[in-house]
Amino acid sequence: MTESDRSAMDAGWRLRLATAKDLDGLHALGCKPQVYRYLFDAAPPSRQFIADRIAQSIVDQNRTGLGMWLLLQDGSALCAGCVELRSYPAPRCAELTYLLDPVHWGRGLGARMAWTAITQAFMSAQIDTVIAGADRPNAASFAVMRRLGMRFHKAVRYPLGDGAEYVLHREDTGPKPPPALIPLR
Ligand SMILES: CC(C)(COP(=O)(O)OP(=O)(O)OC[C@H]1O[C@@H](n2cnc3c(N)ncnc32)[C@H](O)[C@@H]1OP(=O)(O)O)[C@@H](O)C(=O)NCCC(=O)NCCS
Repeated sequence: MTESDRSAMDAGWRLRLATAKDLDGLHALGCKPQVYRYLFDAAPPSRQFIADRIAQSIVDQNRTGLGMWLLLQDGSALCAGCVELRSYPAPRCAELTYLLDPVHWGRGLGARMAWTAITQAFMSAQIDTVIAGADRPNAASFAVMRRLGMRFHKAVRYPLGDGAEYVLHREDTGPKPPPALIPLR
């Protein structure tokens, strides 16, 4: 595929802050088995769980500049993905999570969403470190972390078993080359 084919295919993507009106779309996405397999400990999330996450993200947006962004494509009302930055229990640290509709996997969108969110995080004077974690078998998630230039931080234990956290600090080199940013609007 040429660069111009790829640009045409990827045209029209944007990220916008989540609102309470996004509950149905985000819940439907979270209930896809390939999405919840590792992200929600192998069970579809409840509507209340998603509603609470959105509500918390709205509080975070106003307080810290962190939050949740939905991936949308011009001409479609469907929620294609989501990237979230939320408080992490360490000073000046944010936790990154990302999920994408499986129909869009393998086109670089996961890395682009995540890199756009990290760029936002480091624009905040309150955040110096971004951390992401995944279950050990979640090869796609670790591949995204490595693509972003994140490094192994520590082993962790999740409900499904062993996992690991990766980290990126503000002063790190970051991804080479950096994934293209997705417009925030
Ligand atoms: C994780 C996820 C967002 C990745 O999305 P994606 O758009 O397919 O990923 P990208 O196309 O941006 O790929 C980024 C890199 O990871 C690699 N990669 C993607 N999926 C992979 C897989 N299953 N195995 C190995 N490498 C993989 C790509 O080749 C690419 O590497 P490169 O740039 O060096 O070529 C997607 O798989 C997903 O939504 N999973 C379910 C939710 C989840 O588990 N989220 C993580 C919890 S934090």
